[in-house]
Amino acid sequence: MIDRKLVKAAKVQRYRDVEHAEAYKGRFRDGVGKVRDLIEQTFVRRHVDGWILDAGIGTGRFSVPLSWMGHPVVGVDASLPMLDAVRTELGDKIDLVKCDVELLPFRSDKFDSIVCIRVIFHLPQYKEVLAEFLRVLKPGGRLMFDVLSHEHRQLARRMAKWLRVPIPSPSTDPLDFHLSLEAKEIYQLVRNCGARCIELRSYDCLSTYWVGKVPPLKRLVRLVLRLPWLAELWAKTEVSLGPLLSPYLTARHFVVVEMPAFSSKQELG
Ligand SMILES: C[S@@+](CC[C@H](N)C(=O)[O-])C[C@H]1O[C@@H](n2cnc3c(N)ncnc32)[C@H](O)[C@@H]1O
Repeated sequence: MIDRKLVKAAKVQRYRDVEHAEAYKGRFRDGVGKVRDLIEQTFVRRHVDGWILDAGIGTGRFSVPLSWMGHPVVGVDASLPMLDAVRTELGDKIDLVKCDVELLPFRSDKFDSIVCIRVIFHLPQYKEVLAEFLRVLKPGGRLMFDVLSHEHRQLARRMAKWLRVPIPSPSTDPLDFHLSLEAKEIYQLVRNCGARCIELRSYDCLSTYWVGKVPPLKRLVRLVLRLPWLAELWAKTEVSLGPLLSPYLTARHFVVVEMPAFSSKQELG
């Protein structure tokens, strides 16, 4: 049984470290990180509109370009060093608030879009966090988030057993908590709170088990992705493959949720 409070505290603390905030910025500059960034930026830009909340803004990977494109953005994060990094880039072009995503200091029905990438999968309180997002989202508004693919995790475990690769026993380190869900669980979760999942995309083939566990493949991926045009080509290919990409072959789900234009907001079960 995981201690939900302990996990959340450990995750929040991790990003309060200034050095971690500095290092985080570099993660998406090249290689696999660059590919992930290009794919996520493409998905996000397809759906954002109006007043945007960037929840768990980090160093502003999404908000910095969106603000320069003219979108009004509010960014929230539990880490001051992360918020400082955004402030350095955008000054007063953006509203920044230090708070917990589970308890947002905003009135209901305030935002047209919410972007929450690489945050929810750190939090065992994901149901409460989603309910809070849907509270502040306007009717007809859209929420974008990602989680790890449980389909892929299960397949990887089965393959490890089959190949007789030792499977580490479940970690007790709260930092090792990473939420994975199956597509059908995501649809159910979203339905339970009276919203609709309008897009569910499988992506991130390069963070899969086989790339991680097969050293020659890992080295090859690292080598070829040093070429920026190849990183771009890979990202474009993943985006255009669309629904053809199976969640068994990709590490993540990208989810787009829409609040019905007229609905009574319900609590998540
Ligand atoms: C992996 S980073 C993602 C940053 C950004 N969304 C991106 O994709 O580049 C996770 C961010 O979520 C923030 N965070 C984690 N738990 C949080 C919480 N409970 N409330 C607010 N922010 C949180 C961290 O401080 C960190 O900046």
